Amino acid sequence: MHENASAEARLPSRATLRDGRRVVLRQILAQDKAGLLAAFHRLSDDSRYTRFMASMRELPDAMLESATHPVAGREFALVAVSDDGEAGAIVGGARYAAGPGSDTCEFAITVADDWHGVGLAKCLMHSLIAVARAAGYRNMEGYVLASNTSMRRLARGLGFVDTACPEDSTLRVVVLGLAEEPGAA
Ligand SMILES: CC(C)(COP(=O)(O)OP(=O)(O)OC[C@H]1O[C@@H](n2cnc3c(N)ncnc32)[C@H](O)[C@@H]1OP(=O)(O)O)[C@@H](O)C(=O)NCCC(=O)NCCS
Repeated sequence: MHENASAEARLPSRATLRDGRRVVLRQILAQDKAGLLAAFHRLSDDSRYTRFMASMRELPDAMLESATHPVAGREFALVAVSDDGEAGAIVGGARYAAGPGSDTCEFAITVADDWHGVGLAKCLMHSLIAVARAAGYRNMEGYVLASNTSMRRLARGLGFVDTACPEDSTLRVVVLGLAEEPGAA
């Protein structure tokens, strides 16, 4: 997939959320390890479980290393950093990854529990989708626990189609076609 500077050039970007708190969205950096670890440790057990689909007490070093070093050309990760109050804290993150040569990328997203429900995930997903579309991916998909109503509702609101996962009835697969520009006939 080719890199297209246009969507990435819109990063960093600023957003004001529904409750007035402000964030900066930017690409993840190698120096974000400590910030990412702090963000992981403040997640509730529920959020960790819905994000990783496993009980995770610690973030293994290998996961932290790969999270902060996306593979150029087929992985992309952005973080939301608080711009007031606890300035500099990572309060959300979204990423995609694709197999070599694949035109479909898989997303994952996490928002700090005390930042839920104010539109942060929607902002992160809009940016992530724009970057994936500009990079030439034709589809974005995500594996979501069937019980994860907030993620499923968020995905449907963004235009993803919510389908059964043939291999596992506890999961849903949400899929978004990226080939059409939003609003195109
Ligand atoms: C799922 C998650 C990312 C949503 O983040 P969020 O920042 O709270 O979501 P937003 O505030 O942007 O909400 C976007 C939409 O999602 C839906 N939504 C969000 N929270 C919801 C809730 N508690 N119940 C129902 N719908 C909800 C709404 O449709 C909302 O639309 P609106 O803004 O027009 O009302 C967040 O709950 C999270 O990080 N969960 C743990 C990790 C996870 O489950 N990741 C997904 C698997 S990769």
